[in-house]
Amino acid sequence: MACVTDTTLVIFGATGDLTSRLLLPALAQLLDREPGRTVHLLGAARRELSDTQWRDLLKAGVGDGHGEAVDRLVADARYIVADPTDAKDLKSVLDAVEGRPVFYFAVPPQVAKAACEQLAGMDVPEGLTLALEKPFGTDEASARSLNETLRRVVPENQIFRVDHFLGRSTVLNVLGLRFANRLFEPAWSAEDVESVVIRFDETLGLEDRAGYYDQAGALIDMIQSHLLQVMAIVAMEPPATLHETDLRDATAAVLRATSLWEDNAVRSARRARYTAGTVGDEELPAYAEEQGVDPARQTETLAEVTLEVRTARWEGVPFTLRSGKALGRKDTEIVLTFRPVRHLPAGFTGHAPGSTLRFSLGPDKISLGLNVNGNEEPFSLVREDVEVTLGDGALLAYSEVLSSILDQDAALAVRGDAAEQCWRIVQPVLDAWRRGETPLDEYPAGSAGPATWPQLP
Ligand code: BG6
Repeated sequence: MACVTDTTLVIFGATGDLTSRLLLPALAQLLDREPGRTVHLLGAARRELSDTQWRDLLKAGVGDGHGEAVDRLVADARYIVADPTDAKDLKSVLDAVEGRPVFYFAVPPQVAKAACEQLAGMDVPEGLTLALEKPFGTDEASARSLNETLRRVVPENQIFRVDHFLGRSTVLNVLGLRFANRLFEPAWSAEDVESVVIRFDETLGLEDRAGYYDQAGALIDMIQSHLLQVMAIVAMEPPATLHETDLRDATAAVLRATSLWEDNAVRSARRARYTAGTVGDEELPAYAEEQGVDPARQTETLAEVTLEVRTARWEGVPFTLRSGKALGRKDTEIVLTFRPVRHLPAGFTGHAPGSTLRFSLGPDKISLGLNVNGNEEPFSLVREDVEVTLGDGALLAYSEVLSSILDQDAALAVRGDAAEQCWRIVQPVLDAWRRGETPLDEYPAGSAGPATWPQLP
């Protein structure tokens, strides 16, 4: 889609890690694919830089081998020294903008919040768009108060609470497979589905992020945000269109209907943290020994929560969301396990467990695990996977995110009410963990997690 008007993308935190690692490569990819877009880039940060120094940073950030649109973006880019929490500086930024301003806050959440509080007291141009990174608040009440502040600045559909998982091609594949194939939708409910697992096991350890991660832990870093959004996509009612209102109404309804399994914060959730070990070729120290970690905080690096979506479609089906760091194998997938057949005709030998439908996230793959007749013995059942490999998706998740922000299409951004619901869902678990009611288990880095935890499908 072409960009609606002349737009200036203002990146606050222009000299930071998020900008160089994720935003700039994504912007370059987007412009290579859609060279007709007109985007001006205004970098804003507290560090003193000239326009020329900023352009040099940009060149390094986007790398070589791009088309003319990226060259134009870099050549026309400007930089402004600004503290986003200062009203005067925000005014200077607004004055420097050409066309419609998009403010992307690639800064810590407390800075973004303070900036929005300043904006709420200012006259801002119509069409101002705000993009913020997670976490959106620190609990349900603070998320609500942040939402109130944001809505004093601009209407909800100009607020982009960025969740790059919603831009991942695999997540979008769930929509395609389910809604474009008559085969699946009739089986997409508790009638036929026995359980759903959404798993994001990473081999990466802490990666020098103690300052942030030790405060967050796996539950907040991944489950409260990304994985609940993915779950909402998997479990939503069929929307009439993929437009912003239909899609976000449907996913928000799922989140509103979601509670902990049996409403029990202790039995429905587990937590663990890694001890020293080897992941691939890399030796990792115990999480508790990592620089910047306060072991007394008891931060978990692996979390698992089982939820129930209490609707006619899903009641009784456990949705287990799991995410962890420093695990032996990258295992990132959505797995629907179907119920076994009601009756297997006598005469078959072997087992006929429920079929499974897996969406692997990056490289994208969809695989259907089926019981089929073995080659040797015609009526002996064996398990085979039918697979389609989709690669990595043409667009980086952040390119998808940026494209929707520039086009002002909020369908894949987290709506304010959904952000509040995500905190409501996990809050009892956070409280139980803070009270020490759930043991903090351990697993060696490089393992599959604590040996005592039940295996997920
Ligand atoms: C981030 C989390 O939001 O998502 C990280 O803070 C996690 O801890 C990352 O590693 C995973 O996403 P991606 O796109 O890097 O696979």
